[in-house]
Amino acid sequence: MNEQKIFLIGFMGSGKTAYGKPLAELLNVDFFDLDSYIEKIHNRSIAKIFAEDGEEKFREYERNALREITFSNNRFVLATGGGTPCFSNNIEFINANGTSIYLQCAVEELCENILLSNPARPLLQNKCGNELYEHVKQLLSIRKPIYEQAKIILTGKNHNPQTIFEIYKSQVELTRH
Ligand code: S3P
Repeated sequence: MNEQKIFLIGFMGSGKTAYGKPLAELLNVDFFDLDSYIEKIHNRSIAKIFAEDGEEKFREYERNALREITFSNNRFVLATGGGTPCFSNNIEFINANGTSIYLQCAVEELCENILLSNPARPLLQNKCGNELYEHVKQLLSIRKPIYEQAKIILTGKNHNPQTIFEIYKSQVELTRH
């Protein structure tokens, strides 16, 4: 297969980067992390970009970076940012250009992972406890219909690189016949 473009989508803390890297290794394709790519281009952390340029500009950088990676590479796994599919018709773009995989997670699990991971997430503004739970729950309910447009939806029990690899492979086989 010449083209193999896999987009991992899902809320902050759903494991897009953690599972994306080993998945790319299993598939023997390149791995990209959209946030890291934007940070490199703009030479600043995501938190700094939000603080200095605002969210609207960030979404523009995000939109452009998504297209740049997609058009410049044929075979990759890309871990998108939690908001990526929800802006600038990005979900339509993603689905037109490759296979989207949604890592679906329960609110409790997302909160646990968010608290365990270190990068400051501008949209969460150091929230914790009940405040974090309510915020995640509300934002997820808005984003869910967009995430659910993914070609493959994986529930928590399937969140490990080997299973994602196998489900992806079987899905690709199915669409070939
Ligand atoms: C965002 C998620 C972040 C990052 C930015 C905005 C979002 O990525 O792109 O802080 O809107 O959900 P992660 O999902 O990798 O944390």
